[in-house]
Amino acid sequence: MTIYQSGIIAEASSDALFITLNVDRSEINALRNTLGAAPALIEELQSQFPAAELHASIGLSSLIWDDLDRNRPQFLAPFPHIAGKDIEFIPTDVDLVLHIRSSRHDATYQLANVLFNAFGSSVRLVEEVSCFKYLDNRDLTGFVDGTENPAGEQRKAVALVGSEDQSFEHGSYFNLMRFVHDLEKWENEDLKTQEDVYGRTKHTNQEYPSAEKSVHAHTKRTSLKDENGDSLEILRHSMPFASLTEKGLMFASYSKTPVIFNLMLESMVKGDEHGNTDHLMKYTRATTGQAFFVPSNKWLVSLS
Ligand code: HEM
Repeated sequence: MTIYQSGIIAEASSDALFITLNVDRSEINALRNTLGAAPALIEELQSQFPAAELHASIGLSSLIWDDLDRNRPQFLAPFPHIAGKDIEFIPTDVDLVLHIRSSRHDATYQLANVLFNAFGSSVRLVEEVSCFKYLDNRDLTGFVDGTENPAGEQRKAVALVGSEDQSFEHGSYFNLMRFVHDLEKWENEDLKTQEDVYGRTKHTNQEYPSAEKSVHAHTKRTSLKDENGDSLEILRHSMPFASLTEKGLMFASYSKTPVIFNLMLESMVKGDEHGNTDHLMKYTRATTGQAFFVPSNKWLVSLS
């Protein structure tokens, strides 16, 4: 078992389930016991599906944290309410999240079922969204998603809390947003307009040269640097979901601090110093916005 929860760092998967839950406060001891047993339950299912790259992470929001631990991760807070001229992100925080992923939908389903049954009446299901790999890791707008994610050891450096918050080392801040796309509007745009919206080419997935990127391009608005010129990064595990009537993206990201994600949101919604905002948001709408902390396996086990 890794010291951090395995869903954080693992490579992109072809299947994922995002499950959000609220807790019955009168059953907090039962919840504590299940959270403590969860790492072993996950490991057991992983051994039943050795080739399925089955991974999970369990996150807790600021709403439930204090019921479980008197100490708090340094930056744990509700999802920020950010409103600009045309875009608004509204917090819809819940108590718990399960992020389960694998290369086999049956494995994902079984682990979700085992965990949900183990929580029993201590939780109430808020939402369950099943996601799939679309083509070569594309969003339903047709563009490859995840290209500029950190790779190799850099994934841990970006996603895991280090010694700066010793009690919560190896944990990660997790943000989840459910976006519903207006694909009719999107598909009415010509190729050049779509590519300008991302600042990347569609078919060949090439980044535009910096000078050709619009100030409204999604990759312009989210590619941020600190005062030393170093990139501010997050680790994204976003995946599409779709029914015949509703199509979109579960945006999911891990980071050693939520500050970077919040800055990206601000840059998208409020824009640069001239108010130039992210034009991708003209074609999609966030129906949820949630913030969690995904503690280490050691912290989970210590609960029971
Ligand atoms: C880049 C899609 C929301 C952060 C990208 C790319 C795509 C994409 C296709 C280019 C390829 C790459 O992954 O590097 C989407 C869609 C979204 C969405 C469809 C919602 C409907 C967000 C949000 C954030 C975000 C909410 C953060 C607050 C980033 C970052 C990059 C990126 C950091 C890499 C920028 C770079 O360095 O070039 N996104 N994204 N995205 N996105 Fe998003």
